[in-house]
Amino acid sequence: MATDPHALLSVARECLDRSYAPYSRFQVAAAVVDDRGRVFTGVNVENVSYGLSMCAERVAIFCAIAAGARAITAVAVAASGADLLSPCGACRQVMAEFAAPDVPVYCEAAGEPHRWLLSELLPNAFAAPQLRKG
Ligand code: THU
Repeated sequence: MATDPHALLSVARECLDRSYAPYSRFQVAAAVVDDRGRVFTGVNVENVSYGLSMCAERVAIFCAIAAGARAITAVAVAASGADLLSPCGACRQVMAEFAAPDVPVYCEAAGEPHRWLLSELLPNAFAAPQLRKG
């Protein structure tokens, strides 16, 4: 189940009504799988001070990390809108911290999974080796 796109998107979709999005009215939910096959979910959590709002993908990833995970092997994202959601840039960078370039990121388009690889969403990612000085 863990890496089946339909099943993982279904887990995310079931969380959509827990989204807290009173300002945008745009509900997003994410489900991520860790390298032990555990599934963690998240929803977007908005704030009246808009800039403090947090995306569903980062909530799910941070839940996984807080539970001891250090590697993410699949990501699925469901949203209330009909159009294909493309994860925001900040979430892509957070995914890159814990997921390899070949990790699939599934988003829904008309009820069907659309698969990107993380390397397609964030090519040439800023990564730890670049911190090292010569
Ligand atoms: N949002 C996400 O949760 N994930 C994304 O990848 C894009 C945007 C949320 C943030 C905000 O609560 C709402 O969608 C509208 O931007």
